Parts: sequence; C-alpha cells; structure tokens
Amino acid sequence: MKISIKSYTYNNRRRFLLSAAGGLALAGMPLAVLAQGSGKMKIGIVGSGRVGSAIGSAWVKAGHEVMFSSLDLDADKKLAARLGGGAKAGTPREAAAFGTVLVISVPYRALPGVGKDLADLIKGKIVIDTSNPIVARDGDMAVAAREKGAGQASMEFLPGARIVRAFNAIGAARMAEAASKKENIGMPIAGDDKAAIETASALVRDVGYEPVLVGGLVAMGKHLIPGTPLGGERSPDEVRRVAATLK
Ligand SMILES: NC(=O)c1ccc[n+]([C@@H]2O[C@H](COP(=O)([O-])OP(=O)(O)OC[C@H]3O[C@@H](n4cnc5c(N)ncnc54)[C@H](OP(=O)(O)O)[C@@H]3O)[C@@H](O)[C@H]2O)c1
Repeated sequence: MKISIKSYTYNNRRRFLLSAAGGLALAGMPLAVLAQGSGKMKIGIVGSGRVGSAIGSAWVKAGHEVMFSSLDLDADKKLAARLGGGAKAGTPREAAAFGTVLVISVPYRALPGVGKDLADLIKGKIVIDTSNPIVARDGDMAVAAREKGAGQASMEFLPGARIVRAFNAIGAARMAEAASKKENIGMPIAGDDKAAIETASALVRDVGYEPVLVGGLVAMGKHLIPGTPLGGERSPDEVRRVAATLK
C-alpha cells in the first residue's frame, strides 16, 4: 500500500513537471514580457518538484540561467533538456554554488539536512524559501516549526542565509501559469535583508505575481504557510489589507 501511494505521488509529480514545462512553452511569452527588470540572474534550485520546476521553468523562459537539483539528477537533466535555454541540472551543492540566488523548495523535514549539506555555500546567500512545515507530511518537526514560526525555523535550519519566504501558499499549478494570466495577483513575501527582498521581488514578478512585502522573516514568515489568512490568491491590495490584521 505504501509503495502505491509513493508511486502515485511520484507519477503525479513527474506529470506536473511535464505539464508545467509544456504549459510555459505553449504560452509562448516573449522574454521581454516576462523579464521585468531583474536582469539575467544565475538561480540555483534545490528541490525541483512541483514548485521548484514551475517557478524555475518560468525563470528559464524569462531568460535566467537556472540549475535544477533534487535527489534525482537524471530527472533534473531531462527537465533541463526539455526546457533548453538557460536550464541546467546539477547536484544540490552544485546548484547552491551556481546560484547567486538559491531557491530551497523541499519537504520541510528535509530542510535540516539541506542546511547542513549546504552550510558553507548558503552563508550570506540570498535564499528564497518556499518550504512549509506540514504536519501530515513532515511529522513532529513540523509541529515544532509551526510553534516557533516558519520564518524562525527556516532561519535556524539555514544559518547565515539571507532568507526571503515566498511562493509558500499559492498552488504550484497556478505558479506555472501565472505569467500568462492577466490578473494582478499579490504574492506575500517576508524577509529582513533589503537586497534579498529586492532580488526576490524581481524574481516573483518574473513568475507573474506582484510581490507584497508583508513584514520581517520571524514576525510575518509564520503567516506564509497554507491555511492561514494569507494563504491562497488575492489582489496585492487585499494581501496588504489582510497582512495589516495579523500580528
Ligand atoms: N505543491 C504546492 O502547491 C506548494 C505550494 C507552495 C509551497 N509548497 C511547499 O514547497 C515545498 C516543495 O513543495 P513541492 O510541492 O514542490 O514538493 P515536491 O513536488 O514533493 O518536490 C520536492 C522536491 O524536493 C526534493 N528533495 C527532497 N529532499 C531533498 C533533499 N534532501 N535534497 C535535495 N532535494 C530534495 C525532491 O527530490 P526528489 O523528487 O528527487 O525526491 C523534489 O524535487 C514544500 O515544503 C511545500 O510544502 C508547495
């Protein structure tokens, strides 16, 4: 039974990777439309699952160089070959060394290990953290992380990184199609480092969202998980209005 659940998830994920890449190809957006001022960047992605592949594909389409990594280098090589352009594949350490910006998008229970494996590479690095503590998936460590707040927990697992939490509470399928939509959807982000926030904001725009800084990593990062008032899609003004009601 366990095996079939696992393979169902795996197959779903691989189907998603294909549809994310295919959807972007069909969207056929010219690079100039997508790249809204972030300039060409080198982005490493640790965790090329539903979220990592969706936003990474959008960034490749926008003209960035993106190195995808996960526990499955062959799958990442296939993804990079399918995307073409500035897409590459590597190990998590190679992706962390490659990116001037690093995206960490893994199940939360993997975050402590990722932080240890990449410790020397993430100090001082801009890290976009999409990862959420989900108790049903990640177990007791997610309970502890939610109690202290996801921003605080991520900061402890990724010491020295200049973390911005973003892409946490909008469905990955929507991220893959956001760039081709006309709606102006707000993406709440939380962080403390000015340059990291600016860089993350530019990259959020390139995926097709309007970034809305809702506050600091510890104070507001805890609200950037699914199921909170900031979860789901709303206009940038509505994100600001909801954020103002939170402590
Ligand atoms: N799905 C959503 O709609 C959504 C939306 C917002 C935020 N999030 C959050 O974002 C994170 C990623 O979600 P997802 O849906 O993209 O998950 P996913 O589809 O399960 O992908 C997770 C990725 O992390 C990789 N990974 C796992 N352990 C790793 C490790 N130790 N080192 C390097 N890579 C590792 C996996 O590699 P393998 O495939 O090789 O195992 C896979 O590429 C989660 O924390 C989730 O809660 C999800």
